[in-house]
Amino acid sequence: MVRENILTPADLIWPLFVTEGEGVDEPIATLPGVSRWSVDQIVHRADDAIELGIPCIALFPNTQADRRSDDGAEALNPDNLMCRAIRAIKSAHGDKIGVLTDVALDPYTAHGQDGLVDDAGYVLNDETVAMLVDQAVNQADAGADIIAPSDMMDGRIGAIRKALEMNGHNNVQIMSYAAKFASAFYGPFRDAVGSRGLLKGDKKGYQMDPANSDEALREVAMDIAEGADSVMVKPGLPYLDIVRRVKDNFDVPVFAYQVSGEYAMIEAAAAAGAGDRDALVLETLLAFKRAGCSGILSYHAVHAARMLNG
Ligand code: PBG
Repeated sequence: MVRENILTPADLIWPLFVTEGEGVDEPIATLPGVSRWSVDQIVHRADDAIELGIPCIALFPNTQADRRSDDGAEALNPDNLMCRAIRAIKSAHGDKIGVLTDVALDPYTAHGQDGLVDDAGYVLNDETVAMLVDQAVNQADAGADIIAPSDMMDGRIGAIRKALEMNGHNNVQIMSYAAKFASAFYGPFRDAVGSRGLLKGDKKGYQMDPANSDEALREVAMDIAEGADSVMVKPGLPYLDIVRRVKDNFDVPVFAYQVSGEYAMIEAAAAAGAGDRDALVLETLLAFKRAGCSGILSYHAVHAARMLNG
């Protein structure tokens, strides 16, 4: 009766990695217990989510090396891995599951940056935004419910909103990765999408300095003004203070991404006998609710939902 916050499977969004082939279940070494799955298997994972009461899955493609290029053009291919996965899930499950898709070029570029780069390796903001707009429309055409730009370019939310509306996708939502920090917690994710070995330099030119908090509020304010339906803070646990400030200052739903390195950290702690895995998972996820999150992206979503369902 005196619990102020509760965690339910409806709070969870499950990130999934898609790969080519059929019947493929490919474990990711730095993300123990998480696999890349081929499209047919992803449809089963969507089944699992529905059965457990998880309302939404987030898709990330592991694009084959020979489909990557400097300009990331594969992101605009209507038959790319991402679009095939979206269509397969939507034709199997319709509205029973929400599909959130990642907008950024890093799964498609040969250099692993989220955008187009000049000869010196600097990311070109406006040229990149033009690509992201087409990428978002491509995903919406395939059936995505929520477009989630994770690239951190300036002005992309407004441009994507306009393009979605011009293309008849008025009901497609935008969840902006508004406060995304240049973090050391993204390593396993980059393995999962295959960009880690490719990435030259870092992403500090467009991701936020972990020292900053007021800047996060400015980023969030801009994205909301440009038309974001909800915003995200990322990584999660080390940035709960940011979540709380966003929650107190804005009236759109705020989500957090408990990222790959956070997942790996919990798994490593449990494997070393430093803590109880189940308890660590439930406590950390509940902490996001307490901080003000409307929902949490977590690789522990299925494990947590199983526990919560009893
Ligand atoms: C990049 C992107 C990243 C994540 C989601 N989208 C990593 C990065 O910025 O390099 C990280 C998610 C995770 O670590 O689980 N567009």
